Amino acid sequence: MKHLIDIKDLSVQEIEELIKVAKDIMQNPEKYSEKCKHKKLATLFFEPSTRTRLSFESAMIELGGNVIGFSSASSSSTAKGESVSDTIRTVGCYSDIIAMRHPKEGAPLVASIKSTVPIINAGDGGHNHPTQTLTDLLTISCEKKRLDNLTIGLCGDLKFGRTVHSLITAMSRYKNIKFILISPEELKIPEYIKEEILEKNNIEYVETNDLEKYMNELDILYMTRVQKERFFNEEDYLRLKDYYILNKNKLETAKEDLCIMHPLPRVNEIATEVDDDPRACYFKQVRYGKYIRMALILKLLEIK
Ligand code: CP
Repeated sequence: MKHLIDIKDLSVQEIEELIKVAKDIMQNPEKYSEKCKHKKLATLFFEPSTRTRLSFESAMIELGGNVIGFSSASSSSTAKGESVSDTIRTVGCYSDIIAMRHPKEGAPLVASIKSTVPIINAGDGGHNHPTQTLTDLLTISCEKKRLDNLTIGLCGDLKFGRTVHSLITAMSRYKNIKFILISPEELKIPEYIKEEILEKNNIEYVETNDLEKYMNELDILYMTRVQKERFFNEEDYLRLKDYYILNKNKLETAKEDLCIMHPLPRVNEIATEVDDDPRACYFKQVRYGKYIRMALILKLLEIK
């Protein structure tokens, strides 16, 4: 049985296969409409979500399967003190596959040890978000037609941004990738990502707090939200939350084929005036998320 806890659980070849299946689903949805008949997905969300939970649920429904689950810890027996392990053993009796989001880093890994069905990490604290990364890779593959030879700007909360950590890990396996890491000093990328991923793999990167300085070099600009829920004091959050606001003026020097991405939700970091720019890909990215999750469910359930 295979789980998806970290993007590194998938080889580059497996990711390529998932992207290929997702593209086929986009072209031929009817071929897949009964693939998961009589299968059940459980979505266990101990932390809020709009896209991840609903895209998993619509993915399973479009594969002909069914969905059970909860959208907050307070509506489950967690509120009575039940452990993650006991919850997982219980839900494994009712479902064939589980997508789980939890505020504690490592909780999906703990769950996978006890689980009798495949576990998908749908985000654990400030750690990882592998299915967002699969979404991002499908977006890049569809919009840029390649996953190598790219200069990628990552902007905002690089410290707590789990989507950024997983994306750097995944993209570092492709050729000729350069990262421009744009953040305020307090929200710089963690040392372990620099040491264990970037430096270990000889990946070129620059750290800066200036959003516009490298704009003309970027093939992808990946904006992120400053994450209020990860701050220990509100004062720091209020000081940093509007540090970057991408607007039309800031895009003046950007390439014509720049791809602007954001895992969403957005707060203020992309002005709504950018939404009409043909380079804004973040709502397309949402749509791609459903297709790659369909491909992932099929893979983990070993359905051809
Ligand atoms: N991108 C993402 O994880 O969005 P949600 O928090 O809405 O699931």
